[in-house]
Amino acid sequence: MMGRILIIGACGQIGTELTKKLREVYGTENVVASDIRKGEPEFVASGPFEVVNALDFNQIESIIEKHEVEDVYLMAALLSATAEKNPAFAWDLNMNSLFHVLNLAKAGKIKKIFWPSSIAVFGPTTPKQDTPQYTVMEPSTVYGISKQSGERWCEYYHNIYGVDVRSIRYPGLISWSTLPGGGTTDYAVDIYHKALSDGKYTCFLSEETRLPMMYMDDAIRATIEIMQAPADSIKIRSAYNLSAMDFTPKEIAEAIKKEIPDFTIDYAPDFRQKIADSWPQSIDDNSARQDWNWKHEFDLTSMTSDMLAHLSEKV
Ligand code: SER
Repeated sequence: MMGRILIIGACGQIGTELTKKLREVYGTENVVASDIRKGEPEFVASGPFEVVNALDFNQIESIIEKHEVEDVYLMAALLSATAEKNPAFAWDLNMNSLFHVLNLAKAGKIKKIFWPSSIAVFGPTTPKQDTPQYTVMEPSTVYGISKQSGERWCEYYHNIYGVDVRSIRYPGLISWSTLPGGGTTDYAVDIYHKALSDGKYTCFLSEETRLPMMYMDDAIRATIEIMQAPADSIKIRSAYNLSAMDFTPKEIAEAIKKEIPDFTIDYAPDFRQKIADSWPQSIDDNSARQDWNWKHEFDLTSMTSDMLAHLSEKV
């Protein structure tokens, strides 16, 4: 019997669905959800839940001991748009939570770590199309700087201390069950909600802003697959490029129009435009495909049908 799993930041956009899926795979009692505060009552009641501040080393350590945790998924972070509004706190949270978990692994208290990186590690000087795994990386956002630094530390802890840490550079993630919190790619979730509730949407990015994106089902499967892969197949210990689709606001609006013909969109770019303009438009993820057999399933059309079907059931 393996040890238990702890998810830190379990009430967020990824954490909620990751918790659900990990419980299906490993059993509810073996997956401990945690967050800085209690989330939806239904979620908190659905299995073991702890209130944990990701910046409190002792708290994390005692939860790990209490539940005999072996694997930690550290999903707590401030995303790109929110981080620009509070750079010092974003740096503190994004870096020090990672150090806590890396140091627990270094001390032999946990066996394996998943830590999410992002396309935000790339910057304006990075090649924008089919961005390679290894390329120029000069992130220009606080969030990107923290993710790039985090990647360096993950690789360092692996090389110097033998820590088994695994990471993915997520593209923008689209999901129906939980709203994203403070990212630049959030428009691609909001647009579906507004299409159903108002029949129209005002986008905070311009119509031709192309960004790499992925449906949450694929992202969760990738996360579980990279953690299940044999350690020697994980050859990259910074973070893997990961890709499924890329589109512009205009293209996602057209996909929605096929299902909701009267849907309309207009554009009012704000400060997030500059963040989006610094990121890649598409990603080359051959290393993930080769090393641990990554394959995406959803494209823009299949994602749009699935999103609208689920969201219509909810309202
Ligand atoms: N989706 C994230 C954001 O927009 C990128 O990792 O901040």
